[in-house]
Amino acid sequence: MILGVSAAGVALIGGGTAWRVTRNPVSAVAPWQIDPTPPADVRLDAFRYAILAPNPHNRQPWLIELVGRDTAVIRCDLAKRLPETDPYDRQITIGFGTFIELARIAAAERGYAVAVTPFPADEPQPRLDARPVAKLVFRKIPGLVRDPLFAAITARRTNREVYDATPPSAVQLRDVAAEGVTTSTDPALLAQMRPLAVGAMTTEVTTPRTWLESVRLFRIGHAEIDANPDGLAGRGPLLEGLQAVGMIDRQQLADPTSMAFKSGLDQVRASCGSIPALIWIVTPGNSRVEQLDAGRRYARANLRATLLGLAMHPLSQALQEYPEMAPAFAKVHALIGAAPGARLQMLARIGKGPTVPPAPRWPLETHLT
Ligand SMILES: Cc1cc2nc3c(=O)[nH]c(=O)nc-3n(C[C@H](O)[C@H](O)[C@H](O)COP(=O)(O)O)c2cc1C
Repeated sequence: MILGVSAAGVALIGGGTAWRVTRNPVSAVAPWQIDPTPPADVRLDAFRYAILAPNPHNRQPWLIELVGRDTAVIRCDLAKRLPETDPYDRQITIGFGTFIELARIAAAERGYAVAVTPFPADEPQPRLDARPVAKLVFRKIPGLVRDPLFAAITARRTNREVYDATPPSAVQLRDVAAEGVTTSTDPALLAQMRPLAVGAMTTEVTTPRTWLESVRLFRIGHAEIDANPDGLAGRGPLLEGLQAVGMIDRQQLADPTSMAFKSGLDQVRASCGSIPALIWIVTPGNSRVEQLDAGRRYARANLRATLLGLAMHPLSQALQEYPEMAPAFAKVHALIGAAPGARLQMLARIGKGPTVPPAPRWPLETHLT
């Protein structure tokens, strides 16, 4: 919601008092500062990059068990799923695909290939369970080719700001598409997608149980973000100022009649409608392996966009599988021309946007089991 607030510098509060509030999260963004001395164990080296992967609601559900000298078993922290907006753990699984791809790219930088066995104990359906999501085996390969996307890992962001109306160039979009996504600047498609994305976001925000799932995960201001470096981080001087005078908290955000709720809804509607170009990922079916692969492709597209100076922002609401969203779900699949049985796994806007700060992360140690 109010996540879009980004006014810099001075917040005018109460009886005209001007406060400069410059405090930012500190420990929450420390994982983005990569220590130039890498850990001796290549697996830990790779995973300190992998935890920077895009993932739904920034829940960071990755549990890592190091086995022997060359293997890691990855499981889902089942408490970190999103049962209302992601009832079948589809998006959470995509967020494992992004994590594994970043681990793979980072390991290659050190000359290691990663052999990935997805769901080694079979695919959990209809929801994830305690069985592993993947087994990763790291092996040194002489002369292994490095991946140029490595350079973008710490600069990549999810950017929820309003973008320039001018779309990226055809050459830029071709380069992003080469990572395994479809791109479009078709005016007729965008003209239909904008109200659909805004409408789907409005449905999510005005459906109490889906909205409360997000509200519970809001971290408002630097102190909350440092204490719980996950979820949806609202930061910046304006927000800190509003918080200081009691004009924004989780209770108000949960209340559709409050100012905080209404201005937040206006902001997310503005950003969801700001679509100079689209990218999407469709899979022929909806298996867990296809979901992981969608994450791999999304991570690569996001990193490629970063290298090109482009911003990206998923618009996942219409893709979600709960009853109130069913009309938007059907419409978005029809709009992108999905074949029967095919599943739209990711939809995102792409364009030029202002710079945004990194999202919080728990330190790597907290993921090790
Ligand atoms: C499957 C998936 C779905 C996502 N859907 C949304 C979305 O609908 N809206 C949004 O703002 N961000 C979405 N995100 C982005 C995450 O919120 C973001 O990755 C997370 O907050 C961490 O921020 P970062 O990407 O800047 O590191 C999605 C990410 C993934 C992997």
